[in-house]
Amino acid sequence: MKLSSANINVMVKVCRKSAKILIRDFGEIEKLQVSLKGPGDFVTSSDKRVEKILIEELQKARPNYSILSEEIGEINNDVSFKWIIDPIDGTSNFLHGIPHFAISIGLEHDKEIISGIIYDPIKDEMFTAEKGNGSYINNHRMRVSSRSKLKDCIIFTGGPNYSSREKELSMKEYKKFSSEVIIPIRKLGSGALDMAYVAAGRCDGCWQRNLNYWDIAAGIIMVKEAGGFVTDFEGENKYIQNKTILVTNSKINKEMIEVLK
Ligand code: IPD
Ligand code: CA
Ligand code: CA
Repeated sequence: MKLSSANINVMVKVCRKSAKILIRDFGEIEKLQVSLKGPGDFVTSSDKRVEKILIEELQKARPNYSILSEEIGEINNDVSFKWIIDPIDGTSNFLHGIPHFAISIGLEHDKEIISGIIYDPIKDEMFTAEKGNGSYINNHRMRVSSRSKLKDCIIFTGGPNYSSREKELSMKEYKKFSSEVIIPIRKLGSGALDMAYVAAGRCDGCWQRNLNYWDIAAGIIMVKEAGGFVTDFEGENKYIQNKTILVTNSKINKEMIEVLK
């Protein structure tokens, strides 16, 4: 049975409320797509609108918690709880009218992520996780896949929003996976949903350079609670500092690290 803490209930409620705006705005994109100016400015303001509601509602429910959010940055308070927010992860998809993006909120306590939510409003898929209490998709338990051979796997990656050096490295990694190990690689355009999909066993792993904390905060707990691994490219846990993240089921972590070397 799924047991939800009060904090998860707050996150679910806040996501559902903000998602209404997101869905409405996504409906407008199609019209703007054909206009000369394009939807660029509209998307920026939509991002900010969603962030504003998320923050207002989270502050109403938990006035003492600190916040780190992609657009506005840090709001520091005195307790050791912090919301880590990405109002729209997958902005490029949103901008192009591609229905694959999500709201992502992680909750940190004493510098450790203890719960997370990733909500895909278009598919109405709500991914949640809490430390010690498992990961769920729309209230059904999620587990990572059990595929153990890379040749049978599907792996996601993202970018490139990189410097030229990072671009070079990421191209090398992509080439190794796709032409040497020969595994299908997908770029779906939302780092947060990539991680949720690993947790759900839909894909077997993902890797990326240069992701920010708000892209991965909720996904970290989700993958761990679904039985998967979250490491940097060396297999260590410095993925936030190093900004290199490797997410896998429990079987292919070592093999993936070998390829990334
Ligand atoms: C981006 C997405 C994308 C990833 C980029 C991120 P945004 O976040 O997660 O999949 O490749 O590195 O910046 O800009 O849509 O919030
Ligand atoms: Ca993001
Ligand atoms: Ca974003």
